[in-house]
Amino acid sequence: MIKKLTESVYNVGAIDWGRTLFDEIVPTPQGTSYNAYIVFGKEKTALIDTVEPYKLDELKRNLEELNVKKIDYIISNHAEQDHSGSIPALLEMFPEAIVITNEKCKGFEMDLLHIPEEKFKVIKEGDTVKLGGKTLEFIFTPWVHWPETMSTYLIEDKILFSCDFFGSHVATSYTFAKYYDKVYHEAKRYYAEIMMPFRNFIEKNIKKVEAKEINIIAPSHGPAFDNPEYIINAYKEWIDPTPQNMVLIAFVSMHESTRKMVEYLADALVQKGVDVKIRNLTTGDVGEIAMDLVDVATIIIATPMVLAGAHPNAVYGAYLANVLRPKAKFAGIIGSFGWGGKAVDVIKANLSNLKVELLEPVFIKGDAKDKDLAKLDELAETIYQKHKEAGIIK
Ligand code: FEO
Repeated sequence: MIKKLTESVYNVGAIDWGRTLFDEIVPTPQGTSYNAYIVFGKEKTALIDTVEPYKLDELKRNLEELNVKKIDYIISNHAEQDHSGSIPALLEMFPEAIVITNEKCKGFEMDLLHIPEEKFKVIKEGDTVKLGGKTLEFIFTPWVHWPETMSTYLIEDKILFSCDFFGSHVATSYTFAKYYDKVYHEAKRYYAEIMMPFRNFIEKNIKKVEAKEINIIAPSHGPAFDNPEYIINAYKEWIDPTPQNMVLIAFVSMHESTRKMVEYLADALVQKGVDVKIRNLTTGDVGEIAMDLVDVATIIIATPMVLAGAHPNAVYGAYLANVLRPKAKFAGIIGSFGWGGKAVDVIKANLSNLKVELLEPVFIKGDAKDKDLAKLDELAETIYQKHKEAGIIK
């Protein structure tokens, strides 16, 4: 499916309607797309990014439909294979083509794709390539998603080709985003799963791209934006360092004791005016949990004891929060055990990257009794007070 952005720019990438999992971890309930953009100058033609190799036929079909006989430049914004993986096949189809990218990306692509060094032209930040009436400028936007990732700016049409940055895993027939509630949800999911660990870099990268006048943001996943401020403002909201007055309770429960504690704590928090999200770590969608982590001020991991340690799914939940490095300021551990073990220590060890204050754990024997519920009341009060002291509750 070809999507026209302007008279000279078309999305000739592939739509992956049926993809349900990315990187073998990230659920993609709306599928995804690998956008590749062809830019026609008067003298030269450039292709910006490619597609997953198993979607090469779709890219080829789109190029044939547009009667593309020659590609002079393949601009590679990012070496991850969902965008770079078809470069070797395209170089066979268009042997005159040169791959334009930065030094770091060249190295990755020589390693990952075995592209010979002589096929590359290495550019530096701010360099331009002229196509005849169309000029591409390169803006280095590291860590959205990898350290080599860059964006390409088409000066005359004011289009920013941002690769993963501002993308979303959405398969859609629309060229430009519409139905904004859905767009917001999927872009946030993508931010949470892919971008959140690099929050500090995102702020710098937004400043860089905002220095340009932009009419269209064209990412390499999901729809393009003909109102760029929409997605830029959403990113600014997500990277804001102040979390919301909200607690994520991510739990596993085998025989209901831990679940009862989770529900009791949640009720106690809500009564104090603290919002709560409860997610089941065994059956929940990892992407939804990641999205909660974008906003919450406090993370509670709730686990039963299994084989003298925490439940493996609870360990996974803690590990996930640890690698996504959300802005949360507080964390706690609750749960129930039968005859002892090291569940609390295991969860603690898996939260070590988080810049959080660890609250006093509430780990109880068996099914909660009144004295245990009183400890959960205390925990709820502590969370409320901490949110207040941190200025999260105004
Ligand atoms: Fe869409 Fe980092 O690749």
